[in-house]
Order: sequence, then structure tokens, then C-alpha cells
Amino acid sequence: MNIIGINASPRKKANTQTLVEAVLDGAAAGGAKTRLVNLRDLKINGCLGCEGCKKHPGRCVQKDDLTPLLQALTSYDAIVLGTPVYWFHVTAQFKMLVDRLYSFMEFGQNPETGASTVRSVFPAGKQFVFLISRGDPEPPALFPQFYDHLNEWLNLIPLTLGAGNYEFLHQYGADIDRKAALNDPILIEKARQAGKKLLV
Ligand SMILES: Cc1cc2nc3c(=O)[nH]c(=O)nc-3n(C[C@H](O)[C@H](O)[C@H](O)COP(=O)(O)O)c2cc1C
Repeated sequence: MNIIGINASPRKKANTQTLVEAVLDGAAAGGAKTRLVNLRDLKINGCLGCEGCKKHPGRCVQKDDLTPLLQALTSYDAIVLGTPVYWFHVTAQFKMLVDRLYSFMEFGQNPETGASTVRSVFPAGKQFVFLISRGDPEPPALFPQFYDHLNEWLNLIPLTLGAGNYEFLHQYGADIDRKAALNDPILIEKARQAGKKLLV
């Protein structure tokens, strides 16, 4: 089994990376082949909105470090995606990745009704683990409802891509401590277990 983990925190070896690595370690202990990608090391751009991919769904026409990564994603059995919460949402790096997954959306028309259709050409049935690290405790000190949209939006990623199993693991209360995950053996064990589960 081949598993890729993508860390969208701009901070090196901080909470999100620790959690992504723990999932990959758990899977590797069961025999999986794993690869870690830190988006901060890549030269990546946001979607240009050029719609070039609509001529060839599954192929982003931009030439940056995300283009080969998007192609590579189709070949993995499981995808582990980690992001810190920034401003009640994901990081810009994570959003750039997700926006570029638009290249896997094929637009069409129902021949009978003429209605617009959209379907994903991303290979269906992949497993996903989402890791979300945040400073706020659970429940958040202020405005708990401010996170509802984030949870709903995150759900749309596996749903849109036709995922098989998927799981969300949240870290709460990290504040600005980059070692908070490392110092939380229960959370690390949960992440390792999520990795092990990818093999069954
Ligand atoms: C620009 C910025 C915005 C943030 N916004 C939030 C937020 O809206 N809610 C929250 O709980 N934490 C927020 N945080 C805290 C981070 O989510 C938290 O420190 C997280 O553990 C960082 O992950 P990392 O250690 O992998 O970089 C923010 C941090 C930064 C730098």
C-alpha cells in the first residue's frame, strides 16, 4: 500500500507535521510505503481560473511544483492531508492545493435534459485522513459557531473526490506551541492508529 502525507503548515516540524508523520509512521509499521510532502518546500501557486483543465479534465495546465504532485496523488491508495487552522479556516497552502483539485472536475451536459453536470475524474475509492491543528481549545473560548463552516467545507473534499473511507482528527488547544502535538502521547497514538487503520 502506498500512502502520501501532505503537510500544509508553513512551520517546520510543528504540530501538523508531527501529526502527519505519526499517521505515516503508524501505516509504515504495518508495512505501507509512505512519502511526506511539506508544501512549504514547494513553489506553488493558486488556481488561475483559466479553465484550461476543462479541455482535459485531470490535467492542470499550470507549470509549478503542484502540477506533478496533483498527478502523483492519483496513484496513492491513501492520502493524509494536514493543515493548521488559520483565521477559522485552512492555511493558504492547503487552500491552494484544494483549489487546484478543481482540475479533476469534468463539466458536461445531460444529453436528455440539457442540464449542466459535474463529475470528478479523480480515481474514486481512495482513503483519506485529515489532520487539523488549532490553537483554540475545545469548546472554543469565543464563537463556537465560527468553526461550523470549516467542518462542513472539509467534508466536501472527500465527498467531491469520491473517497472511500475518510477520517478527521482534530488537535485542539495547541495555542502557538509548535511542540504541543509532540507532547500529547494520546493524540499521537490516535494519529498512529489512524495510519494503521488505512491498512485494513
Ligand atoms: C495566521 C494565523 C491564524 C490563526 N488562526 C487561528 C484560528 O482561527 N483558530 C485557531 O484555533 N487557531 C488559529 N491559529 C493557531 C494555529 O492554528 C495553531 O498554532 C496550530 O497549532 C499551528 O499549526 P502548526 O504548529 O502545524 O503550524 C492561527 C495561527 C496563525 C499563525
